[in-house]
Amino acid sequence: MKGLILSGGKGTRLRPITYTSAKQLVPIANKPVLFYAIENLVDAGITDLGIIVGDTKEEVKAAVGDGSHWGAKVTYIEQDQPLGLAHAIKVARGFLGDDRFVMFLGDNFIQESISPLVNRFEVDGLNCQILLTSVPNPEECGVVEIENGRVIRLVEKPKEPKSDLVAIGIYMFDHHVFDAIERIKPSWRGELEITDTIQQLIDAGLKVGHYILKGWWVDTGKMSDILEANRLLLEDMSYSIQGHVDGESKVFGKVVIEKGAEVVNSVIRGPAIIGENTIIMNSFVGPFTSIHFGCTVTNSEIEHSIVLENSQILDIEGRIEDSLIGRNVEITKSPIKPKAFKLMLGDNSKVGIL
Ligand code: TTP
Repeated sequence: MKGLILSGGKGTRLRPITYTSAKQLVPIANKPVLFYAIENLVDAGITDLGIIVGDTKEEVKAAVGDGSHWGAKVTYIEQDQPLGLAHAIKVARGFLGDDRFVMFLGDNFIQESISPLVNRFEVDGLNCQILLTSVPNPEECGVVEIENGRVIRLVEKPKEPKSDLVAIGIYMFDHHVFDAIERIKPSWRGELEITDTIQQLIDAGLKVGHYILKGWWVDTGKMSDILEANRLLLEDMSYSIQGHVDGESKVFGKVVIEKGAEVVNSVIRGPAIIGENTIIMNSFVGPFTSIHFGCTVTNSEIEHSIVLENSQILDIEGRIEDSLIGRNVEITKSPIKPKAFKLMLGDNSKVGIL
């Protein structure tokens, strides 16, 4: 079996972060979300991986390389425009050949291993298998209707959903998917939809299995979901201190301090992770916070947030909460008058000031 990971797309919901970088590389608990997808596939014995890339291809290639880090072989497949999930499969035809494959959206995140499901897909000789979960907002997703234990219909973002079960971003297919894609037309949003493709397979009488997830699923397409994924992952971590914590500091709960990190006269209340060579001085880092490598936090307080690499938070009086802070960002108290907010923010930035 092969793996097809989708790491193209526009990422409009995550601007301005996605103006300069791939959303699939946003770190969750200090590891890019894309890496969790690779690990899940490799764990299921799938090491021949194709990665769909778009505008951010160079960054994705630099981060993943040839896949040898995971014992995998990675082939990059360029998609000129993000014309839909089914379009991405079409573009990958040369790589996939007639092999059965798992398609994994590079910004989707599940708690459980896909390994038993891959096994079931093979043993039951299914033509397609979809993974489902119940959500409170089905109208924003691909809603799945089940009758007598079988999937009978999939509808993309229906106004009046007939169930709260939705398809998540992990699918398994055999070669029949290519004919199905040829039979569908772009939707109102101009994309070749995966829901229409699967509906074609159902209508053609092919075997479409489904599995309802037991653990959590997060689509990290927008900031609140990224913070939620971070929260869930940090809760699963165990305590590990590889950096240096001085005698004046206090560390509570599940805390990871990576090597080269320094905690000086500060309080770290887990779950939290402090990345390599990051300095936390005279500060408070609260629960559900991930601070990536090369950052400096001094005389400040932060919780329930993610800070990307090489950023600085210096001398901030109020507590920073529920925030996603990009790379090389500086948040400082201005040393010069007038006493005022002095901002340089990219397009689509969001700042909440009391
Ligand atoms: P989406 O989150 O549906 O789309 P997007 O990345 O363009 O984001 P937004 O809606 O915020 O503009 O995409 C799901 C995943 O699939 C994501 O990892 C990007 C990837 N993708 C492709 O690789 N090619 C595509 O044509 C599309 C639509 C998505």
